[in-house]
Amino acid sequence: MSEIVKEYAKGEDFAVIWKPRKCIHSEICVKTLPEVYKPKDKPWIRPENAAVEALKKQIDQCPSGALTYRDSGASAGDEPQAAAQIKAKVIPGGPVLFEGDIALEVNGENRKLEGSNAFCRCGASTNKPFCDGSHRKIDFDS
Ligand code: SF4
Ligand code: FES
Repeated sequence: MSEIVKEYAKGEDFAVIWKPRKCIHSEICVKTLPEVYKPKDKPWIRPENAAVEALKKQIDQCPSGALTYRDSGASAGDEPQAAAQIKAKVIPGGPVLFEGDIALEVNGENRKLEGSNAFCRCGASTNKPFCDGSHRKIDFDS
């Protein structure tokens, strides 16, 4: 299960990073910053249309951890803090979100997960054990 990582630069120091396999298509990004996240355009993320602080604030709201950022211009004190413990939150009708570093083993393959990760609860994801947004297609209501 290889990770796909896409980077959308804003100048030299800042970039929005998107991992499509982690995206659960909640569209929170599109609703929060529609001038930046344009699903019908290519590229679909336009970081030049918002200030860095607005981008960071929105990225921190991405529930699945699909969005992160690189900020080479930030001082060490501005770096996001690592989670001290794993937090889990069940989304009604959707995935369970885990926040924190996780050592995951799938079919004998070890991976280190960081930040937020959404795990499928509905069984319909084509990217198990992660959620890919398919719960919406099957009207999962548990
Ligand atoms: S999971 Fe993150 S990147 Fe995907 S649609 Fe939701 S807010 Fe946007
Ligand atoms: S919970 Fe999202 S695809 Fe299963």
